[in-house]
Amino acid sequence: MSDKRFYIETYGCQMNFSDSEIVNSILMKDGMQPVQTAEEADVIFVNTCSIRENAETRVWNRLKEFRSLKKEKDDLTVGVLGCMAERIRDQIIDREQLVDIVVGPDAYRDLPNLLAEVDDGRKAVNVLLSLEETYADISPVRTSDNGVSAFVSIMRGCDNMCAFCVVPFTRGRERSRPLKSILNEIQQLSDQGYKEVTLLGQNVNSYQYEDVDFTQLMDQASKVDPEMRFRFSSPHPKDFPEPLLHLIAKRPNLCSYIHIPAQAGSDTTLERMRRPYTREQYLNLTDKMREIIPDVSLSTDIITGFCDETEEEHADTLSLMKKVRFDLAYMFAYSERERTLAHRKYDDNVPEDVKKRRLSEIIEQQMNIQEENNKQEIGKRHLVLVEGESKRSSEQLSGRTDTNKMVVFDRKDFQKGDYVEVEITDCTSATLMAKPVKKSSIQEFYAEPALV
Ligand code: SAH
Ligand code: SF4
Ligand code: F3S
Repeated sequence: MSDKRFYIETYGCQMNFSDSEIVNSILMKDGMQPVQTAEEADVIFVNTCSIRENAETRVWNRLKEFRSLKKEKDDLTVGVLGCMAERIRDQIIDREQLVDIVVGPDAYRDLPNLLAEVDDGRKAVNVLLSLEETYADISPVRTSDNGVSAFVSIMRGCDNMCAFCVVPFTRGRERSRPLKSILNEIQQLSDQGYKEVTLLGQNVNSYQYEDVDFTQLMDQASKVDPEMRFRFSSPHPKDFPEPLLHLIAKRPNLCSYIHIPAQAGSDTTLERMRRPYTREQYLNLTDKMREIIPDVSLSTDIITGFCDETEEEHADTLSLMKKVRFDLAYMFAYSERERTLAHRKYDDNVPEDVKKRRLSEIIEQQMNIQEENNKQEIGKRHLVLVEGESKRSSEQLSGRTDTNKMVVFDRKDFQKGDYVEVEITDCTSATLMAKPVKKSSIQEFYAEPALV
């Protein structure tokens, strides 16, 4: 046991944020106290991300800042958790004495022991990856969310080996968390008043625990609480289950929103990326999503400037995005990562300025599409789950539609966690403005379809 104060700073994807909550729980069980700033802490952890060069650069800079804190405070311990830990443990320990402890994503149960080693004056490292660890029995201590929407990990690792991606190396093999422990966590969240859960994994549609697949998991999860909304992130286009589309269409609390990473729009790029689907298969899939779930909203991830990408291939990405008309896209310039297939076999040969230009072309087109899509929303009614005050004004609330669009409207008597029926009045490319109609619920709103 230890009574030290700890602070965790988290970078990267939702999985990492979710992991920080597990770390929180492990440390608090050991007697440690969470604090809100690095300055108050005896132990500082940085939960790191390796996905792109700039993610790592940010972490290095932060570690340097903590080194100056260490100079003022002798007994301060600094630790690196997460995806960078795995990849560059030796460098981290040697490099300018920045760090005392390095712990990979599958070794968090070992944290109390490792901290004790540091107390004995040693550096402590555990970056072993596991074939089984899912932290199924650990209830995360939720610190980073708004008390309304929460993330629940359903699987860890990734076996896909996309040519550009470091995740299989940082997080190891794919494994699914037992169904029961997922359902228990959702039940607890419901008891605590949470209204929205996003099920997380690097490749959620390969969830398989005993004879339960991802569609069955979604079915069971959504039955825990009919007034709780469910989303998931991210599925892979290669094996997206059609029965799940029918389930989403008929179950009101399964959100009509699917994040479906395309990465690129040309067959040759997809092949080099080791994404095992064609442009046509991807377009057939999104067509099917629209056909089965009429008002479904789609978002995607795109990488631009991947090895050997030609202007023609880039044009194919633009045209795919124009065809699908995504409501949201996360767009990145390719960043070479060590150990990946692309690093070993290809040349990162698209010049930086070309990558930048292509990236701004897809961003510009996407912003226009989003604004046009959002204009179509004006006059429509939506059910919004209130997440809190809007960023701009305490007189306004913000929340999301079922289709994951951010909406802002006058506060009136509504509160965080309420479902409010609204009518959309205006928009930008990122936000919808609305007037509230009345407090409602999933049962009520979807029982009588909104009049348009
Ligand atoms: N497992 C998720 C994605 C995880 S990483 C999935 O497959 O959907 C999130 C996104 O980062 C990826 O979808 C990809 O678009 C982007 N990304 C991954 N590696 C990258 C790299 N080396 N350079 C640039 N972007 C990358
Ligand atoms: Fe990376 Fe591909 Fe796995 Fe996603 S599916 S985490 S992009 S290897
Ligand atoms: Fe980054 Fe690791 Fe997530 S590399 S994106 S934190 S899985």
